[in-house]
Amino acid sequence: MFTQFGKDFIFGAATAAYQIEGGWDEDGKGLSIWDIFSHTKGKIRDGSTGDKACDTYHDYQTDIDLMSSLGMDAYRFSVSWSRILPEGKGPINQKGLDYYDRLVDSLLKKGIRPFITLYHWDMPYALFQKYKGFCGRETAQYFAEYAGLMVDRLGDRVKDWITLNEPWEHAFFGHFIGEHAPGLKNPWLYFRAAHNQLIGHGLAVSSMRSIRSDLNIGITLSQFPIYPAKFEPGKKDLDSVEMADLFINRFYLDGVLKGKYSEQLFSRLWPITPKIKEGDMETICQPIDFLGVNYYTRLFAERKWYIPFLKTWIDRAPADSRYDHPVLGPQGYPLGLKELAKRYREEYGNPVVYITENGTTEHGALEQMLRIDDEYRIKYMDYYLQALKEAIEEGSDIRGYFHWTLIDNFEWNSGLSCPMGLIRVDHKTQQRTVRDSGKWYAEHIREQKSRSIL
Ligand code: FCB
Repeated sequence: MFTQFGKDFIFGAATAAYQIEGGWDEDGKGLSIWDIFSHTKGKIRDGSTGDKACDTYHDYQTDIDLMSSLGMDAYRFSVSWSRILPEGKGPINQKGLDYYDRLVDSLLKKGIRPFITLYHWDMPYALFQKYKGFCGRETAQYFAEYAGLMVDRLGDRVKDWITLNEPWEHAFFGHFIGEHAPGLKNPWLYFRAAHNQLIGHGLAVSSMRSIRSDLNIGITLSQFPIYPAKFEPGKKDLDSVEMADLFINRFYLDGVLKGKYSEQLFSRLWPITPKIKEGDMETICQPIDFLGVNYYTRLFAERKWYIPFLKTWIDRAPADSRYDHPVLGPQGYPLGLKELAKRYREEYGNPVVYITENGTTEHGALEQMLRIDDEYRIKYMDYYLQALKEAIEEGSDIRGYFHWTLIDNFEWNSGLSCPMGLIRVDHKTQQRTVRDSGKWYAEHIREQKSRSIL
């Protein structure tokens, strides 16, 4: 028995350019910070790179055919900025544009609705060299120009656009702790990268709208309900929970949807606060058509005096097994979707929401994670979709779900050692095999369709 959704609810899967395309130096593509980072010794856990990844630059058709056979309504993918503008600005690489043009046409031919993410972390290296990527305000302007260019070329066929993917992860892992490209470890750059990304988002929204008025534009944020790590937390731990929430979730929600950052956050983080110029917040708070939410699990926080500025330790694993989900264990927290949805209804004006990512690995060593009979993923999806349905029943305007991810791919600093696909990929042969979860998802979608016809 599958959870039943309304007939207009869309089901799809998501990917990102650097994680799947390969063709990293072909046909005039410029370098991105991820090309440089993955080629730097010691940065990627298994020593792999995204040079080849899933090779979709050479063959996207196989995956489009598979999506079509699974009955998917939509596909969220990202564009590699440096494939379009090798220097991040200036001369256009026509072959790069042609690639996305063909990809879009091929999706539309199969009746699959394209959702394009413009920035999924692969900053053109030239802009990094010149302006330190989003640490420089200039980059926000160049991002808006690139966004306009993409709409100019594809906006007649693609209506659904996402400006940024997870600005928190990009700013934090890439600039604060250096685990992602560009590999900077500088707390002072964190808020600059965060704030300038949001300015880039706002400028991009207006540049896209100035070109076409019929677009559905949003931004994708990662979101985590934050819980105290201790089952019986002290006052300071509760304060840390609030700080973590402000730092990870609310900074971005408040900026984009309210045009105002929390003073409380800056009272703690004042030494690293970004420079906010007049007009910035208005730029950031452009009206958008939807909020993209990437939701995987909750986080746990507790007070630790030695953590710089935030004085808070934030972790994925609960310190106490009483927090475990009875079936999904410590990794799964489907209820979080309802909690987030409630917050958006009550505090952010109930925006239209798409779940733009949600997914999991299987447990165990790589061999187990590669299994085809991925029962854990099926249970995980089932519970999360149920929670999603309940959030809709409670009044949230959630219109679609994109599973992360379609195919096993290059999972950033984990390289090829973190397969999360509905479809397994043998990276030696590029052979695809649909997992049990992919078949389950297809059944789920099929049943929705047949019921809505009745
Ligand atoms: C998200 C990223 C996505 C993928 C998943 C597992 O944070 O947006 O690219 O890495 O996590």
